[in-house]
Amino acid sequence: MHKPFEIIQVGLGPMGKIITSLLLKRQNILLRGVVDINPQLIDKKLSDLVDCDKDIDLIIESDLNAVLSREKADVVIIATSSSVEKIFPTIEKVVKSGIHVISICEELPYPFQYQAELSKKIDILAKDNNVTVVGTGINPGYLMDLLPIVLTAPLQSVNSIKVTRMMNSAKRRVPFQKKIGTGLSVSEFHRKINEKEITGHVGLTQSIQMIVTALGLKYDEIIELPPKEIITTKDFTTSYGETVQEGYVCRLQSKALAKKQEKEVITLDFVAYAGEHEEYDSISIEGIPSIEQKIRGGVHGDLGTSAMVANLIPKVITARPGLLTMKDLPVPCNTENIWKT
Ligand SMILES: NC(=O)c1ccc[n+]([C@@H]2O[C@H](COP(=O)([O-])OP(=O)(O)OC[C@H]3O[C@@H](n4cnc5c(N)ncnc54)[C@H](OP(=O)(O)O)[C@@H]3O)[C@@H](O)[C@H]2O)c1
Repeated sequence: MHKPFEIIQVGLGPMGKIITSLLLKRQNILLRGVVDINPQLIDKKLSDLVDCDKDIDLIIESDLNAVLSREKADVVIIATSSSVEKIFPTIEKVVKSGIHVISICEELPYPFQYQAELSKKIDILAKDNNVTVVGTGINPGYLMDLLPIVLTAPLQSVNSIKVTRMMNSAKRRVPFQKKIGTGLSVSEFHRKINEKEITGHVGLTQSIQMIVTALGLKYDEIIELPPKEIITTKDFTTSYGETVQEGYVCRLQSKALAKKQEKEVITLDFVAYAGEHEEYDSISIEGIPSIEQKIRGGVHGDLGTSAMVANLIPKVITARPGLLTMKDLPVPCNTENIWKT
């Protein structure tokens, strides 16, 4: 018999809203609860806040424990923070309730080196409770790690991999535009970088670690360069209606490398650029034979991330227990027509 997957969403910021509205559109998914600690969201009706054409009675709650003890769920989706340390208490509660976790936390797709102790703790907790925990998204989680890994399959040998994301940040959600410093003066940009208010893109090192582990590539060091700003030469207006004047920051570049004997074995180049320009995601693999792949127009980061999450639900349920990565799961694909049996 066809049964829907039952889901609880934690975190209803701009990304949580995009994910939730996709979950509500899917026939094979039943949203059981939504949790967020933001006082402006608590007790509001979900259908008043997200793109939804169904009449549903879900109310946003602040107490995850109450929702977990009341609702039966297969998977909890966590969209609250980029930091594994910050989301750990939420993961712990969910896993101890015997429920699988999918999170878009940027550090979770490959936390084993950066957060070694915490990763071990999550892995043991997940195994003890017979559930799977996985971090996903478009980047990290797919475009700059899983996709290049899969593209190496028909190559006899691999010498180096270069991945470039060239995206128009002016089309992205407001927290993303702020995170990359759009509209700041150069001095303010540097101050925010130094004070870690602006991080640049989070997750490049984790993506490199996933690739080198999957391919068994040898390297001497992984280097993540400090985010670099570029200033605009003409005024433009962002999607949140603010004008960025000539001379202010319009572009951020985050770059990470894995080097062996001074040669770049892996290069990940992330460029978020507000303004009119070509958008694409490209992967060049030098090897036997060498191959080039280019996604013209690029993958939409926010829509893509919501789809990655929804599509992963059936995969996570059948995966082995533990803290897994995207390379450990069955081949990801669209799962809107897959049901719980
Ligand atoms: N992997 C990827 O490809 C990918 C793609 C897009 C986004 N992301 C990441 O996903 C996260 C969510 O994105 P966003 O733009 O929606 O972020 P956001 O604007 O920071 O929204 C997060 C929401 O979660 C709430 N929250 C924080 N801690 C919570 C907790 N312990 N329990 C319940 N709710 C909690 C926040 O409330 P308060 O405002 O009161 O704190 C806020 O409403 C960010 O860290 C973002 O960087 C990853």
